[in-house]
Amino acid sequence: MTLGDLLNRASEYLSERNVEDPSLEAGLLLSWLLKKDISYIYANPDMASDPETEKAYLSIVERRGRHEPFAYITGECGFLDYTFIVDQSVLIPRGDTELLAQSALFALGHNPVFFNHNMFRLKKKDSFRVLDIGTGSGCLAVSIAKGHKSVFVDAVDISEEALNIAQKNAKRYEVEDRISFINADFLDKSLNFSATYDLIVSNPPYIPLKEIPFLMKSVKDYEPHLALAAGEDGLIFYREIANRASSLLAGSGIILVECGYNQGHEISNLFSDKGFETLLLKDLSGISRVVAATKK
Ligand SMILES: C[S@@+](CC[C@H](N)C(=O)[O-])C[C@H]1O[C@@H](n2cnc3c(N)ncnc32)[C@H](O)[C@@H]1O
Repeated sequence: MTLGDLLNRASEYLSERNVEDPSLEAGLLLSWLLKKDISYIYANPDMASDPETEKAYLSIVERRGRHEPFAYITGECGFLDYTFIVDQSVLIPRGDTELLAQSALFALGHNPVFFNHNMFRLKKKDSFRVLDIGTGSGCLAVSIAKGHKSVFVDAVDISEEALNIAQKNAKRYEVEDRISFINADFLDKSLNFSATYDLIVSNPPYIPLKEIPFLMKSVKDYEPHLALAAGEDGLIFYREIANRASSLLAGSGIILVECGYNQGHEISNLFSDKGFETLLLKDLSGISRVVAATKK
């Protein structure tokens, strides 16, 4: 078979199984398998493949046809300028979460153009302590440590498997000496932190239990429920962060949390009720994605 034949058959197969953008997915999977740019694949439809490639391609196309996410098949996912290792023990880092990472870098002194609110910027100092609650793949902890040389991060997760992946990512980007990985349940009232933090970041689970059955198949059947479900109203982690905020934050520290598309105001209220000044940060479509909070 030629590359063109493989693409056509895969595209048809994926289309029959309601995978979005079947031709693009077919091309991306073949490009990943052959370690060639997608333009090379499209430019060489008459190139002959070999039986080994055909078998391997069939296997990954079948996985994709069952709606397994592309990132779990390839074992990697892009986030900001980095490529994170992922497996089914971690949530696949989302484009939406880049806004949280960029806001954190802004708070630490970087200057992205989208966000100009000096109240949510830390005063310069020699080093900063950051807490990442629910670190998963470590996409936030690692990109924050990578973006700022004098940052020390405590990265907490209840899942040991997730922390193993986060550790691999920290090693990949040579920041493992500035990140401490803590296997703990943040909702456990007896959990104590010995440090206080200049910055707390979190993209916690935030999907109300009753919404889980309605998630896309690729999410509900493959991504860890531990990373998604958050009690009856999806707000348990934010309540706990708000309750602990005063004791966890150092002086005029900053909290940045990601939120679901309709949760921004409720979460903002949880923090203002505890005496915090808050700000909602929106994505390019105007949807609130990050709640920032700091002491008045
Ligand atoms: C939505 S994922 C976020 C992962 C990553 N920070 C990201 O932005 O892609 C939430 C993470 O919280 C972790 N988690 C769930 N319950 C937890 C708990 N009670 N204590 C600590 N971590 C928890 C999950 O294992 C998961 O890795």
